[in-house]
Formats: sequence, structure tokens, C-alpha cells
Amino acid sequence: MKPRVTIVLGLQWGDEGKGKILDVMAAEADWVLRAQGGNNAGHTVEIGKEKYVLHLVPSGILRSDVSCLIAGGAVVDPTGLVKEIEGLTKRRIRTRGRLHLAAQAHLVLPHHRAVDQGSEKRRGHGKIGTTGRGIGPAYSDKAARIGLRAGELALPAKELGRRIRERVAAHNHAATSQGWEKISATRTIREIGQAARILRPYLADGVMLAHQAVASGKRILIEGAQGTFLDVDHGTYPFVTSSHCTAGGACTGTGVPPTAIHRVVGVLKAYTTRVGGGPFVTEDGTLGHLLHGMGREFGSTTGRARRCGWFDAVLVRRAVQLNGVTEMAITNLDGLDGLEKIPVCVGYRLNGKIFKEPPVEASAWAKCRPVYRVFEGWCEPTTEARHWKQLPRKARTYLSAIAEMVGAPLGIISVGAGRDQTFRHG
Ligand code: IMP
Repeated sequence: MKPRVTIVLGLQWGDEGKGKILDVMAAEADWVLRAQGGNNAGHTVEIGKEKYVLHLVPSGILRSDVSCLIAGGAVVDPTGLVKEIEGLTKRRIRTRGRLHLAAQAHLVLPHHRAVDQGSEKRRGHGKIGTTGRGIGPAYSDKAARIGLRAGELALPAKELGRRIRERVAAHNHAATSQGWEKISATRTIREIGQAARILRPYLADGVMLAHQAVASGKRILIEGAQGTFLDVDHGTYPFVTSSHCTAGGACTGTGVPPTAIHRVVGVLKAYTTRVGGGPFVTEDGTLGHLLHGMGREFGSTTGRARRCGWFDAVLVRRAVQLNGVTEMAITNLDGLDGLEKIPVCVGYRLNGKIFKEPPVEASAWAKCRPVYRVFEGWCEPTTEARHWKQLPRKARTYLSAIAEMVGAPLGIISVGAGRDQTFRHG
């Protein structure tokens, strides 16, 4: 049977609107698999008057006939996941039998959060601006081969307790010299023990589930978290997260082989945002002021105001290449509705030369200045458009030019948070 696997991922620095696009696409899916990241992510979905913010649970959970898997490439804070499941249950969204947690996924424990927050404090001005959720330290332990995995939540309480105590003791031993907060082993064992009892029925062999779904021809969406330029290999290192947010990461994170992927949907905003530190060539305070004034661009996980800037075609062209994007889903077009002029970055100026590719070093990247091509704004609302032809002509010109510049076709356009404010190009 022909595999039907689509990867949906971010082409900028996260917060591109993947949650919303995934929710719309999940109407025609059987499975949604979350490939990487942890509860640093915040995927917002609005259905009518209801607003859902998902951190670990795949967006497909909001469609009652879709099954969901938090795959082995993700890192899972057990108490955070329990809270999310409880929140969904309260809102009458069933998770038992529909949500599965890969035994292969690594756990984020309280001492990881202490390391994350303590290390950020020590970095001072050079801080990464992490979400403080312990994501980096959990992935570090995974790479150092000392992490605990979700499957270990099924161990007898005594053995699980012993393994946690060992990790917490090692943490506390180093804590004072490193400036990390010390952690109570007893409290951690109690907290994780409670979460383990709730999460055990959700545990599964993630790779087996994914392969069964592929082999039986199910329609699968692989949900990427964060965005291409937060990828630990391909992002603005060191101002990145600690996982692989690109298409390759979708395969390693889920165990779905590259040969099973038939479509890669790159999600991007009609402009650019990022949270946390790091280079941002097209950052523009005036645009930020305008968008924040409209109540837009505040982080769904931390509530931080996002940094805002113009569309960066240099960046997105690289993302299209890295991910093998077969179509794009452009969101937040309506954020630009009131503007008379809309600059788009078509090159980077560095040391008197113009580059079409981003530099490798974050320090050089930070010195790049944008070369803009300025488009005329459409100065009318797009939020009521339900077809491509209903968009103002100047908005269509803008979107088509962007697609041409970055080398990927337009697929989906989104002009608001609602499910109905989404349509296909053409
Ligand atoms: P961490 O993933 O918490 O370690 O944070 C590392 C960087 O990634 C910081 O700049 C965060 O703001 C950013 N980041 C992490 N998750 C997200 C996300 O879901 N959306 C946007 N930025 C994120």
C-alpha cells in the first residue's frame, strides 16, 4: 500500500501557526504524530469561541476520529503531560485509547528545569532566552546516555524511585558549583510516581504504532514543533532549541522512514517573528509595536511579547531547501492588512557585499543588514476572504512574489484564527 505521510513543520523561528494548520489538515487524517520538542511548544487552535493551547499533545486530539502519538523524538515532562490530559478531559476531549506516548521518548524531570533556569541566569546578557522548561538539559542527558525514558514509568515504583534518586543525587552534587537550584529527591519521586500511574495506560512502542499506521495506508501527519531556524544543526546556533525541527528530525523522531514521506508542508507567517535571543535581520520595532497593539504576537507558552520583523526571503529559501518543502501554508496575512508599504528582505548586506544565503556564524548573522524590495500594501481587511480570488489583488501579488522568491508553491492561505479562515491557493 502506498504510504500517505505528510510532514507539517515551521519554516521560520516557530510560532508560524502550525497548530491551526495541523488542526485544519487533521480533518483528512487518521493519525497525528508529534516528532520532537517538549512542552516548550505552544500550539494554539481556535474552534468557534473555544481556544485550546496544546504543548505536548498533538493538535489532532481535537478531532475525535484522529489517533495521536507523542513519538520517541519528543521529550516529555510527565507532570506537564498529566496536566494537559486533565485539561482536555475537563473540556470533554477523550484521550484514553486515542493518545499514545512512545516508551522511547525521554523524560524531562524537575532537575532539568533547574539546570535550564540556572544556566540561563548565569549567561546573563548572552542568554538564549529559553522557555525554562528543561528541554536542553533533557536532550543533553539523552545524548550523554544518562536520560530516563517514558517506558521506565512502567517500572515497579521502587526501581523507578531508585533511578530518579540516582539522577537527583548527581544533580545536587554539582548544583552549588554550577549555580543550579537543588532538588528534593523525595518530592520528585512522589510527583513522578503519581504521574506514572496516570500515564502508564498511554505507553506504547511508538515505532511499532507508527509503522503499523504506515503499512495499513493510514493518512498520517507528522507534527513538527518549533521551527527550522531553531533546529540544533540548521538554526541560528547557539540561539536554538536542542532538537531537530527540520524534515530529517521528523523521520528520526518518529521512526517513519524518509521513503514513506510523500508531502512536506512548510508553515510560515506572512512576516517574521521570534522569541528569545539571537540574530534577526529584518527585526523592526515599529512593526512589532503595531502587531502587539493589535493584541497579536504574544507567546502561547510563556506569554512573552514576540520580536517582530518583515518577511525574510533569504531565510525561508534556505528552509525550503533544507526541508524539501512541496507546498507552503502562509498564515497571519491579515497582520499586514493596514500597511501601506511592505518590505521583503531579498538579500543580506555584510561587509559591503550582498549575500543570498545566510552566514554560518550567529555573530556574522547578527551583523547582516537587510536588502529590501518594497511591496505596496493592500490597505483593506483580508479576514473575510474564503477563496484566493477574494483576496485583494495586491495581497495576491505579495504572496505570489514570496513563493517565487523562496522557490516553493503556495498551498494554503490563512487569514485569521478560525478554521473557516483557511483556503487553498488557486
Ligand atoms: P528551549 O527550547 O526552551 O530550550 O528554548 C530555546 C529557544 O527556542 C528560545 O529562543 C525559545 O524562545 C525558542 N523556542 C522554544 N520553543 C519554541 C516554540 O514553540 N516557539 C517559538 N520559540 C520557541
